[in-house]
Amino acid sequence: MEHYFTNNDNLRSNFRTIIYKYEDTLLEFTSDLGVFSKDKVDYGSRLLMETYFKKGKRDVEILDVGCGYGIIGLSLAHIMNAKPTLIDVNKRALHLASMNAKKMKIDANIYESDIYSNVSGKFDCIITNPPIRAGKEVVMNILLKAKEYLNSNGELWCVIRKDQGAKSAIEKMKSIYDVDVVEKSKGFYIIVAKSY
Ligand SMILES: C[S@@+](CC[C@H](N)C(=O)[O-])C[C@H]1O[C@@H](n2cnc3c(N)ncnc32)[C@H](O)[C@@H]1O
Repeated sequence: MEHYFTNNDNLRSNFRTIIYKYEDTLLEFTSDLGVFSKDKVDYGSRLLMETYFKKGKRDVEILDVGCGYGIIGLSLAHIMNAKPTLIDVNKRALHLASMNAKKMKIDANIYESDIYSNVSGKFDCIITNPPIRAGKEVVMNILLKAKEYLNSNGELWCVIRKDQGAKSAIEKMKSIYDVDVVEKSKGFYIIVAKSY
């Protein structure tokens, strides 16, 4: 079964443009077949970003885990002056994210990494709309191992739906983080975890 995170060199291309509007800012992204939410900004990703715009820190180093075509990391760079690093396992997504960064004139570090396998250094913020379809083990690795890649005052921001295991993920996160649910909408939870 093909998933949006599967690399498939035979997949044809059909570029499309996604316009993301936040207050007075209009951002344009190129998307394509074979990437997550290829036709529109995912509701969970939008809620995560827009909660961050209101409550998150400006001017910090962020790591967007499972970046797709770059919507979260590049929007945070544009709107919050974040210094972005974007990772994914999907080569097409990474290519699109690099194209989008170039078009938006954002200096971003974008590379392939299976969870944190190729990541070095630490970040002020790790942000993710995790790949629920990749399974619980991948999702929990993204959430729990984030701690090793966060600076001492760092924060992990993520979105998980209530019916996709938000409550059990929160319980597991509480074993190593202080956890707050900072926003809830349409069954999506925005979770902020800080190391203690
Ligand atoms: C829910 S999508 C979010 C995409 C994008 N951030 C957005 O908001 O539209 C999750 C992303 O995680 C990626 N992914 C899946 N397994 C991964 C892994 N083991 N390591 C890193 N990224 C992974 C998928 O390719 C996909 O792009």
